[in-house]
Amino acid sequence: MEGQFINDTKKIHSTLTFNHVSYSVSNGNEKGNKTILKELSGRFKSGELTAILGPSGAGKTSLMNILAGFKISGTEADLQVDGCRRDSRSFRKMAAYITQKDHLLLHLSINEYMNFAAQLKLGNAVDEEEQTAAVERVMKMLGLSESRHTRVSCLSGGECKRLSIALELVNNPSILFVDEPTSGLDSASSLQCIELLRQIAHSGRTVVATIHQPSSRLLEMFDHLYILSGGKCMYQGSVADLVPFLATRNLICPNYHNPADFVMDVAAAEHGEVSVDLVDNVNRSVNHETNDGFFHGNGRFICALSQCVMLLFVSFLFFFVVS
Ligand SMILES: Nc1ncnc2c1ncn2[C@@H]1O[C@H](COP(=O)(O)OP(=O)(O)OP(=O)(O)O)[C@@H](O)[C@H]1O
Ligand SMILES: [Mg+2]
Repeated sequence: MEGQFINDTKKIHSTLTFNHVSYSVSNGNEKGNKTILKELSGRFKSGELTAILGPSGAGKTSLMNILAGFKISGTEADLQVDGCRRDSRSFRKMAAYITQKDHLLLHLSINEYMNFAAQLKLGNAVDEEEQTAAVERVMKMLGLSESRHTRVSCLSGGECKRLSIALELVNNPSILFVDEPTSGLDSASSLQCIELLRQIAHSGRTVVATIHQPSSRLLEMFDHLYILSGGKCMYQGSVADLVPFLATRNLICPNYHNPADFVMDVAAAEHGEVSVDLVDNVNRSVNHETNDGFFHGNGRFICALSQCVMLLFVSFLFFFVVS
């Protein structure tokens, strides 16, 4: 189904790189500013589904607002698309942002909404036939064709979320930001929604979603994690590398425990103020290497290396005792 979507539309691969992203707001009546985000750097690649994780108030939405170009005042950021400085005008055309709250008009049907979106987003540049084809393609991809005549007021929570995503997909954006796509959805609808975002990402787009407390099954569906704690990044890398990486900092995730729950506890400082150490490590690795960081890409390698050394040592001891 999504294959059809890929083949029928122009493919644009866009990798988003950001460096030194900071965000401060005025501290109300008190003097000075409140810093929400501190010197964040990272890279979200095309073809990957990225999750921005962190406890409530960690700065997930703030970061997404800045990356999507929604928030400019009070921010400092070096943003690049495919290695070139981001031009906000062209970026607006290639990116779409789906906010946490669905701002949908209750009296319109899916069909009406989709056709309006196609007319507004594709405009006169695309003839009516092509617009209809684009609408049909996106509705089919998101499983909305069956309920096309249903009004928004009668749609389920999952269908509303899918409609919000569908409206943004009409003009085939290459970067998609989604804030809390699973909030308010049950576990089955959450899995369906993330699976959909994964398919969109794997069709060559860059998809970034903030997420609160994913189940381990949901977590495994992401290709890349960007974890925030108090406005700073404490981990960026793959899901598979997360637990080995935490182990290198003496943070052992118990067996049969959801790594997302464990890392949220770490981020919320329930294992002591270790997140400071993790943040320092991210900053060091960002400064030394690429934005992915040495430890994050190599957590498993370090574990494997230490196991090899241990094995060699035991073999040597055995040989020594036998001889
Ligand atoms: N304009 C603002 N003025 C004052 N404080 C702000 C402003 N914008 C964000 N904040 C504060 O910044 C912090 C981060 O907010 P943000 O919405 O980014 O968190 P979040 O990680 O998305 O949280 P949640 O998971 O609850 O959505 C919060 O403490 C919030 O109160
Ligand atoms: Mg938020």
